Amino acid sequence: MEQAYSRIEHNGLKDRVVSADVAASWIQDGMTLGLSGFTRAGDVKALPFALVERAKNEPSFKVDVFTGASLGSDVDKIFAEAGILRKRLPFQADPTMRKKMNEGEFHFVDQHLSHTSEMLRANTMEQIDVAVIESIGITEDGMIIPTTSVGNSLIFAENANEIIVEINLAQSEELKGVHDLYSPGKQGERQPIPLTKPDDAIGNKGIPVDLNKIKGIIFTNQPDSPSNIVPPDEETKVMANHLIDFLKSEVDQGRLTKSLAPLQSGIGSVANAVFHGLLESDFENLKVYSEVLQDAVFDLIDAGKVDFASCCSITLSEPKMNEVFGNFKRYKDRLILRPQEISNHPEIIRRLGLISINTALEMDIYGNVNSTHVRGTHMMNGIGGSGDFARNARLAIFVTKSIAKDGDISSIVPFVSHVDHTEHDVDVLVTEQGYADLRGLAPRQRVELIINNCAHPMYREQLMDYYHSALQKGGGHTPHDLEKAFSWHGQYEKEGTMRQLVKV
Ligand code: COA
Repeated sequence: MEQAYSRIEHNGLKDRVVSADVAASWIQDGMTLGLSGFTRAGDVKALPFALVERAKNEPSFKVDVFTGASLGSDVDKIFAEAGILRKRLPFQADPTMRKKMNEGEFHFVDQHLSHTSEMLRANTMEQIDVAVIESIGITEDGMIIPTTSVGNSLIFAENANEIIVEINLAQSEELKGVHDLYSPGKQGERQPIPLTKPDDAIGNKGIPVDLNKIKGIIFTNQPDSPSNIVPPDEETKVMANHLIDFLKSEVDQGRLTKSLAPLQSGIGSVANAVFHGLLESDFENLKVYSEVLQDAVFDLIDAGKVDFASCCSITLSEPKMNEVFGNFKRYKDRLILRPQEISNHPEIIRRLGLISINTALEMDIYGNVNSTHVRGTHMMNGIGGSGDFARNARLAIFVTKSIAKDGDISSIVPFVSHVDHTEHDVDVLVTEQGYADLRGLAPRQRVELIINNCAHPMYREQLMDYYHSALQKGGGHTPHDLEKAFSWHGQYEKEGTMRQLVKV
C-alpha cells in the first residue's frame, strides 16, 4: 500500500483515497461523465463497474458518458447491458453497445474526435459533471499524469466540476515524461498552435488541475485490454503492397522523398498491415503523426524505419504490450502522447501535410466513402478521427476489401448508403484489386478508374451497366439514376446478395 501511496506525490491529496464503491455513490442520476480512455488504452477500470452495481438499486438511473474513443475492459459492454446510458459519445467499437444503440436504447453522437473538446469549451453541449481519469500518479505540484492514452482527459479535467482519479499501479511509471498536454484555449482568442514537427513538445507533462476539484482517488491494478487486431494476412498484405506502390510512384515523380510525409493510420488490421508493409520498403526516416499507435509502429521503430511517433493513444496486442511497456526506455525518446484535439487538429494536419490512411466500409463509383453506417442505417463504430484527417491531409487514402460477406456485398457501389467522406475529401482508394488515384479528376473521369482498379471482377460489369444507364437516364455532372442508386443495398436486404440479380 505504501508503494501505491508513493504515486501521490502531493501530500495534500493522500487523504482523498477512497474505494470505487464510495466514488460511485457520488455519481447522481442524470449527470454527464467524462471518462478517460481511447481505443482500449488508458480507460478507467474500477468506477464503471462500481457504478453499474450501484445503479442496480435505482432502476431509472441514467448518465451521459463522454470518452476519448472506444473503451476496453468491457466497460462499453457492461454500460450497454446495464441500460444506464442516456447518451454516449464520440466513438465506440463494442458489439453489445452497437446492438443496443442500433435498437435505439440510448443516443449515440458520432462525432469527429477533434470536435468534442471544442464543443465542451464553447458550452454547446452538456458540460462535464465528473471527470474520471486514469493516471500513473499525481505529481508534487498536483498534475495528473495520464497513462497509455490522453484522449479527451485534459478538456474533461478543465471542464468538470469534480475529478476522480484512478491511479493504475499496473501502468508503468516509465510513462512519466512522454505526455505533452497543450490546450489551445477559446476560439477567437487563441494563438497558432506552436507545433511544426511531429516531435515538437509544446505543453505540460501532466494535466494541471485545481486541486479542490479532485474529489477522490481510487487505486487499481489492471493492465489495458489488448488490441484485437489480427496480423497481416495474404489479402491485407496485397492491399499494403498496392498502397506502397502508389507511394513509390509519388517518390519517383518527385512529389515525396523517401521519408514520405508524416503518416497517420486508422485503427484495424488493414491499417496495421500497411504499416507492416513499410518494413520491407525502401522508405526511411519516417515519422508518424497519428491518433493510435498499433503494433506495427513499434516494429518500424525497432527496424530503424520510424524516427518518431506522435499519437494520443497506444493500443497493442498482448505480446507487444509486454515487450513495449516492459522495455519502455527504448521507445520513450521517440514518442509523444498528446490530447486528441492536438493529434487530430486540422491546423496541424494541414501544416504537416500528412499522409492519412483510413478504412472504409464502402466506396462509390465517384469516390464518396462510407466508414460508419451498414446499409445506410446501422452504426458500426463511428467516424472516429478519419474525417479530421481526410479533410485536411496532404493525401487522404481510403482502404477496404473489394467485397464483404463472402462476395455477397460489393464494397464498391453505385452510391454509398451514407456519406462520411465526400468525394472532395478523398484522394486515393485502395482495395486488394489495386488503387485509384482520384486527384484532379472530374466525376466522369473517376468511374472507370475506380471500377477497373478497385472493384472486384465479379461486380465490374454490373457497375459499368449502372453507370451507362445513369448516363442515358439524364446524365449530368455526376450521373445517377436515383431510383436504382440504392437498389444494390435493397437487393442485399431482400435476397442476401448484391450479385447479378440486379437488372439495370
Ligand atoms: N457492408 C456491410 N458490412 C460490411 C461492409 C459493407 N460494405 N464491408 C465490411 N463489412 C463488415 C465485414 O463483413 C465485417 O463484419 P463482421 O464483423 O461481421 O465480420 C465488419 O464490417 C468489419 O469489416 P473488416 O473488413 O473486418 O474491417 P475493419 O475491422 O478494418 O473495420 C471499419 C472497418 C470501417 C468498420 C473500421 O475501420 C472503422 O470503424 N472505421 C471508422 C473509424 C476510423 O476510420 N477511424 C480512423 C481513425 S482511428
